[in-house]
Amino acid sequence: MLECAIPEKMRAERTCPVGTPQNFQPPFPGYCARFPEKMDNLVMAIIGAQFSSPSADDGTAIAQVKEFMAKGPEALRPAFWEVVSVTDKKSAFNIGVIAYWSGTEVYKQWTLESEFLKWWESLSAEKDHGWFLEVLSPSLERFETIFSNHSAPEGAANMQEKISGELEEHGYWGSMRDRLAAAQTDQLTGDKWEASAATEGSHNTLGKRVQVQGKKNLCIIRSGQDWSGTLPEERKLYLETMHPVLIEGMNFLRDNGKDVGCYSMNLWDVVDPTTHKADQERTFGLGYFDDLASLEYWSKSHQTHINIFGGFLVYAKKLNFQLSLKLFHEILVLKPEQQSFEYINCHEGTGMLNSLSG
Ligand code: HEM
Repeated sequence: MLECAIPEKMRAERTCPVGTPQNFQPPFPGYCARFPEKMDNLVMAIIGAQFSSPSADDGTAIAQVKEFMAKGPEALRPAFWEVVSVTDKKSAFNIGVIAYWSGTEVYKQWTLESEFLKWWESLSAEKDHGWFLEVLSPSLERFETIFSNHSAPEGAANMQEKISGELEEHGYWGSMRDRLAAAQTDQLTGDKWEASAATEGSHNTLGKRVQVQGKKNLCIIRSGQDWSGTLPEERKLYLETMHPVLIEGMNFLRDNGKDVGCYSMNLWDVVDPTTHKADQERTFGLGYFDDLASLEYWSKSHQTHINIFGGFLVYAKKLNFQLSLKLFHEILVLKPEQQSFEYINCHEGTGMLNSLSG
């Protein structure tokens, strides 16, 4: 018996019809997290430092950020966090944590009691490296996650009370929207990047502390891949057939994202929490789109994701759908007040700073 992705308490009479084809049987299973009854929002924060190159990083900045993860009363600390890094399109090296809290109040309390906020506000923009703080606070109606492996929840799903049974709404284009409770009654339209009032030209953001305003229905995807548990035959297949097309798709969005409403995209590594080496065989694309429709459009019609999706079906069939590869994604569609982006001495192509350029 397949389960509806939207929990009972969030179901509403739809004014936006569901797109599940009649008598649809998903070709492979997908699961979601069932969060505790009392939880009605969550926080995902990306906190870190930016260096001109990997060799410019002496490890002090990430050590400081990790120290904060363990500060403050235990009940206020992040429920889950991991260390991540990426070399971006300007060859800058970014290292930080991606951390989750089970609600905005607990996050706010943590920023005070750990003295993180005091520290963040004291940082100078005239340093030899940059800092970034991106705080995303969706209500649960504006968040959905799906993962391929029942026993391996990722990201926010670590805060689950239980894991769902096999889901009905997945494996067809449009299923992401069908899993989002807010999309039952709202098209979740945003302001298209092309038409928005971005100032033409580049902005020099180095040496400055810059905040970026929240945008109507900004859509964020974190899409993760974990091949650490694969046996040699599957690992080889993943690295030869899936990984190259994934990189191609992510590079397209990183370098030409504007064509499809993508403000920013990076393929990050989840790194060893102590050595910070990218040897964990885990990556994730973290992308910011002007709205859900733009993300849907790219995934359904751009050759790069068609290649990823098509490649995956061939891959899964070759392995008789007995995969050790773990996939997940998290989608956040945010109101302006559910977003906070602040960058200190970061280049203008960092995260949502991209949205300031025309
Ligand atoms: C959906 C495969 C990476 C964006 C899907 C689905 C599969 C898939 C099988 C259908 C999921 C379902 O509903 O059951 C893959 C594989 C990837 C990968 C194998 C990497 C190896 C990515 C990345 C992004 C992305 C990095 C963007 C950052 C999407 C979106 C959907 C989707 C937006 C939902 C489409 C919709 O429901 O309308 N992908 N994907 N994927 N993927 Fe990917």
